[in-house]
Amino acid sequence: DNKIQIAILGLGTVGTGVYKVLKKQQPEMLPKLGVEVEVRRVLVRNLERAASRVDDPSVLTNNWEDIISDDTIDIIVEVMGGMEPARTYILDALHAGKNVVTANKDLIAADGHALMDAAKDANKDFLFEAAVAGGIPIIQPLKQALQGNYIEEIVGIVNGTTNFILTKMAEEGMEFQEALQLATDLGYAEADPTADVEGLDAGRKMAILASIGFHSRVTFKDVYTEGITKITARDIRYAKEVGCRIKLLGRARNTEDGIEVGVYPMLIDSRHPLASVNDSFNAVFVKGDAVGDTMFYGRGAGELPTASAVVGDIFDVIKNMHFGCTGRIGCTCYKQIPMKNREN
Ligand code: NAP
Ligand code: HSE
Repeated sequence: DNKIQIAILGLGTVGTGVYKVLKKQQPEMLPKLGVEVEVRRVLVRNLERAASRVDDPSVLTNNWEDIISDDTIDIIVEVMGGMEPARTYILDALHAGKNVVTANKDLIAADGHALMDAAKDANKDFLFEAAVAGGIPIIQPLKQALQGNYIEEIVGIVNGTTNFILTKMAEEGMEFQEALQLATDLGYAEADPTADVEGLDAGRKMAILASIGFHSRVTFKDVYTEGITKITARDIRYAKEVGCRIKLLGRARNTEDGIEVGVYPMLIDSRHPLASVNDSFNAVFVKGDAVGDTMFYGRGAGELPTASAVVGDIFDVIKNMHFGCTGRIGCTCYKQIPMKNREN
């Protein structure tokens, strides 16, 4: 059969974006992949509310059994967020022989290693490019194109909501709450924006980047986090007066003494490349011993940029299915490197 069937779990900002991008890619699929992709099921909580977000409401279900028991579904796309039932559904899907794509950094930062092990045991793909820095390709380069390097340091702006707030406060004199509301309306913020403004979301992403980049096991609890809630309009004005910008930076270092990962607001010179990363844009610097400095830049949040990364993963799974090599990438050997971090 020349059709790959997928199910999307959750039809919020990202789920709707994935549905739209897949529809838009429809004419490209045969030449690109040699197969067509059909959205067979979409799991939602409220059928009525979701009906206007899809052109064919018959795909909607509020019953997970409809999906897990459907043997024609090859790929599960988890974009509901949160720990449970996402974790159980992903494990059930892998055990049932389905490949999984997710954007769920909360889950990966806490339990990603167990999920990757489960995927390896099941010989299935478990991909999560969208979990870090939205539309920017960063997980895949770390796993593939940069693997000839010893990665020394990863530094970046990895939360779109806080970067948007800091930009609006600095450039338009907007109040913190007003800018946060706007970021929420634009679909950048998490369901609970505390995760964004307290640096937790960035901390989760840095744990994932450090794990992949340093071939280690770094979880969220290993990461020092500090958010932007104490930054005032006056701080931002003073920073500007001395030729600086305030940015929420994530930093992961792989040193001889161990790994150090943290997220904190920092004053940076306005001539530094990170100072001109504004609005919901993200940027990640990766320093490798062979390549030197590399910088990845783009939209770090939002419906279509995030969907771009999710659909990229779906297409990768399809290619791996074609070549019979699912479950081969995404699993990595873990070095035991001590953590240097302070406790939160
Ligand atoms: P969202 O807008 O809140 O959407 C989540 C959707 O999932 C909601 O429609 C929710 O239904 C549904 N849902 C939750 N639990 C469910 C369940 N048990 N069964 C069925 N449906 C369920 O969130 P989002 O922004 O799309 O984020 C989704 C995931 O992507 C999260 O893991 C997030 O961290 C990640 N992510 C988001 C972005 C971004 O820019 N937004 C970027 C990268 C990664 P209700 O409407 O009934 O609540
Ligand atoms: N809330 C997240 C952000 C979404 O603002 O960066 C993208 O991961």
